[in-house]
Order: sequence, then structure tokens, then C-alpha cells
Amino acid sequence: MFIKRSKPWQGREADVTPQPLYLDRRRIMQAGGALAVTGLIGCGSSESQAENGVAASARTASTLQPETASSGLSYRETAYQVGDALTPYDAVSGYNNFYEFGTSKEDPARYANRMSVDPWSIDVEGHAANTGRFALEDLVDFNALEERIYRLRCVEAWSMVVPWIGVPLADVLRRFEPTSDARYVAFETYLNRSEMRGTRFPVLDWPYVEGLRMDEAMNELAFLAVGLYGDLLPNQNGAPVRLVVPWKYGYKSIKSITKIRFVSEEPPTSWNIAAPNEYGFYSNVNPNRAHPRWSQASERVIGGNLFSRRETEMFNGYSEQVAHLYAGMDLIENH
Ligand code: MTE
Repeated sequence: MFIKRSKPWQGREADVTPQPLYLDRRRIMQAGGALAVTGLIGCGSSESQAENGVAASARTASTLQPETASSGLSYRETAYQVGDALTPYDAVSGYNNFYEFGTSKEDPARYANRMSVDPWSIDVEGHAANTGRFALEDLVDFNALEERIYRLRCVEAWSMVVPWIGVPLADVLRRFEPTSDARYVAFETYLNRSEMRGTRFPVLDWPYVEGLRMDEAMNELAFLAVGLYGDLLPNQNGAPVRLVVPWKYGYKSIKSITKIRFVSEEPPTSWNIAAPNEYGFYSNVNPNRAHPRWSQASERVIGGNLFSRRETEMFNGYSEQVAHLYAGMDLIENH
């Protein structure tokens, strides 16, 4: 992975998403920070979500948003919020890592529209009672979508705050009835070389593959996103369905998933295959373990000015929800 420093939209903090709803949201956030407003519109479950360990004080003005966005994508608000401002839509959809379309941050936005994402099916294989090929609509309940505002921390030491729309990964996986032999779950990205110009180059072993331990996959934070900023996912962000694992470095959040496999052994993962001493299987955000070539102690905040930085937090700030998964493990060795 590369670090590039000057981005076309850097410093354009005022240049926010086209959706007026989110403009309102951000203005309020900038003006007042976290507003402890609940139950205003369509967020019936916020209280119970808060009991899951997400502080009510971290709720922001996004609760002011109506249930239905301009695209017609219906979803409900949740208490999964963070205290910092959302990253502008232009940056979320214009500064991407999707190496199948090229290695520059601008390549995905430029070329990912060549990927055909409709219809979309996912092959489910391995240790589970229900396997086979499923249409996306049969896997993801579009009537039960929720919004989660999560931090995204890339291993390249930059970060964003993204309002994802989707469903908990656990809800989807449970429907396949994995057996006790399913200790890990592996994911694979769509591969069509004629649509994905970056796959002409052996940057990674294509297709892109990722994996989680089963208990990680079933954690409340693991999320399957089909949208962001109230709309369907742009192709460059991993349309039509991608993983979001907010306590791990961004490369674990595999895009455009076409295969899910329940396995008993730790599955191979793309960046680990490419450079095992740099990228481990776990890849939990950890400010105490420097990347062999750079520090992970702090991160550049994308969408802020050139010098916007914040201290990187253990598990990207999600210790309360996930630290127990790694009790007793050496997280430097198991990086
Ligand atoms: N998934 C695939 N298939 N190919 C990729 O190159 N890049 C990863 C991850 N998922 C990647 C991928 C990396 S390094 C990051 S940081 C995130 O996607 C970036 O997600 P975003 O572009 O939506 O911000």
C-alpha cells in the first residue's frame, strides 16, 4: 500500500456531501458537537443499542435525519455514532483503495463504474447447513437496513468517519446455520478482469480474499454495508455489498463480495499473502505496533486540512465491544 499526500479535495472541508440532509447534520455537529437527542424521528431502537455499550452521549445530530433518503433507501438510525464530524461525501467516494481498479486513490472513482453490480449473487460454501448461490436480495433484508457511523482506520495511517447503511453480519451468517466446524469465515471479491483494469498487474493475488475468526464475524460491530450517506454504495466503495469491520485496519473490510466460505482453518488473506511481516491475519488497529515502515500512533484525518491528525486508539476506539475477543493474546505477535 502506498501513502500519497496531496489530494485534490484536501482542505475543502466546507465542500460536503450533495445531500442537504447531511449538510444540515454536519453543520450542527460542527456547531455543537454531540447532541444527546434520541427518538426524534425513526430511531426506535436507539435505547437498546445504547445498552450494547455505545454511549448515548456519543449520539450526534444524525438523529435529525428522516428515515428515507433521496434514493428511497429506507433505514433506521442507530446509536452507533462517533463524536467526530463525518468525512465529506466527496472524500469517502473519491479517495479509495480498490486495487482491482488501480493503485492510485483516484483510480476506483474513475474506473469502478465499469463493474456490473446488478444482478448480484453470492456463493455460500463450506461448513454450514444452508449453502448454495443466493441473490443479494435474499441475503440482505432491504427492509431491515440500519445506519452505523463508524471510524475507518486505514493501515496507511489515515482515517475517515463514514455513515454506512447495511445489516449486522451476524444476522446474515446465522441464516446459513454454520456448523461447529466453522471456526473461520472467508470472503472473496468479485473478479472480472475485463471490467477491472487493475487486475492486469500482479499487485496482489486476485481475487482479493479476506477472513475473520467466527467470533469476530458474529461480533455486534461487524457489518455488511450496501450503502453509505443514505444511498446505495458507489462502486468504488465496494458495491453492491462489502464488509465493514471498524476495529480492524481498512483492508479487512473486503469489497464487492461474491463468495462466503465457512472453514475450519485460518483462511489466507490478500495482504498477508503479499507481505506477511507487514500485514497479519488479525490486523486489529493497534497504535502500539508500528508498521515496519511507519508509526501507527496517530492518523491523518481525511477531509480535514493538511495537518488534521488524531491519536490512534486501540481497536480504533471500539475496545469496549471487542477487547474480550483477544483476552490473553499477544497482539504484537498476532498482529
Ligand atoms: N477490497 C478489495 N476487494 N480490494 C481492495 O483493494 N482495499 C481495502 C478495503 N477493501 C480493498 C478492499 C483497503 S486497503 C481499505 S483502506 C478499504 O477497502 C477502503 O475502503 P473505502 O475505499 O471505501 O474507503
